[in-house]
Amino acid sequence: MRAVDIIEKTKNKIPLTEEEITWFINEYVNNNIKDYQVSSWLMAVCLNGLTDTETYYLTKAMLNSGDRIDLSDLPGIKVDKHSTGGVGDKVSLVLGPLAAASGCTMAKLSGRGLGHTGGTLDKLESIPGLTISLDEDRFKKQVKDIHLAIAGQTQNLVPADKKLYALRDVTGTVNSLPLISSSIMSKKLASGADIICLDVKYGSGAFMKTIEDASKLSEMMIKLAKMDNKKAVAFISDMECPLGRAIGNKLEVLEAVNCMNGKGPKDLEDISIEIVGYMVYLSKIVDTIEDGRNIARENLKNGNAYKKFLEMIKAQGATISDFNDFIHVKEIIPLPAKKCGYIEKIDALTLGVSAMKLGAGRERKEDSIDPDVGIVLNHQIGEYVEKGEALLYIYKNDKWDDSIIDDLYSAYSITKNKIKPVDVVSKIIE
Ligand code: URA
Repeated sequence: MRAVDIIEKTKNKIPLTEEEITWFINEYVNNNIKDYQVSSWLMAVCLNGLTDTETYYLTKAMLNSGDRIDLSDLPGIKVDKHSTGGVGDKVSLVLGPLAAASGCTMAKLSGRGLGHTGGTLDKLESIPGLTISLDEDRFKKQVKDIHLAIAGQTQNLVPADKKLYALRDVTGTVNSLPLISSSIMSKKLASGADIICLDVKYGSGAFMKTIEDASKLSEMMIKLAKMDNKKAVAFISDMECPLGRAIGNKLEVLEAVNCMNGKGPKDLEDISIEIVGYMVYLSKIVDTIEDGRNIARENLKNGNAYKKFLEMIKAQGATISDFNDFIHVKEIIPLPAKKCGYIEKIDALTLGVSAMKLGAGRERKEDSIDPDVGIVLNHQIGEYVEKGEALLYIYKNDKWDDSIIDDLYSAYSITKNKIKPVDVVSKIIE
């Protein structure tokens, strides 16, 4: 087989066989095909797409490129959750403990943030002492003992995705439905859970800009799960504006802690309850999804989710259990509103990029992050702001860029008319 023939076929929209795709991926992982040939193929995929069957073969080849975690010796149904990435997306920090407190067993491998999106691992690592490097035995033991672990992917979990993603990142080939769905699902299927809940974001701060594209991506990922005899459910959720009020690693941990102590914000509560409600139902703990939601609601209110969170961080080495005096920055700068009115729009992408410029995120994989910096919204969409009142607060240390203030103002649109708030979860696809 020759790489060039495979590139030609995809360029001419001729479907590849399973053998061809498996060969191409294996040869690439073994360094027998050069980056420039794979880049060329990835661009052909971006432009021409792949059939569903080809996407499955690609997912399978990626999945088989490394280890699979076997959770079958742990009792019960194991659930996992994945987000396609957003701004202020701290859902996993609340949802993991909430799911475990509600009777589910949650074994989750997470990723780091890149660009304007944050990553659960960076947020967790902002907690002093906490490690996300759990080897398979420790990961499984923790899941067995406390029904919850959130860890980083081991080096040999889907190595094909590590190579392909790094290449896609620098060749303008991230944004492709078959490439995103195979990348996500190969990792999720390798992680070993029986039920995979997918938080698929759409809007300015997400990969998918429209509900329609998010729905297509969801349908593809659900199909890929089915082809591997697993169950996936997709929750299509809004990422036009940031989720919650906090953006930045420690700020988001603190917001999650507050949420687990009954202090909202509502959108974070709503999405966590919705997804956990499904998890509880799909884990066969209750007979209806509404009963699942009720259990989740109760465990968020009564402190059980927070207790589970403290158990998890302790098991993973955290040296603190008190989040007062958690954040230390040199300056907190308010951004005063230039006029009064109802907040109509807060552009998630602009806020995510601004937080990254403050040091909360990384532009390149090798960049380090500052866990304390970020942005806290003083108001969310639909709320009224007085002229001169803070729209948001900037938590800054040394990293600064003069464009940040103008950029943040440009993210806002304020109107005289009342705004009807939208539900954070717009649609559920099974
Ligand atoms: N997240 C992933 O894991 N892979 C993609 O391709 C895009 C988002």
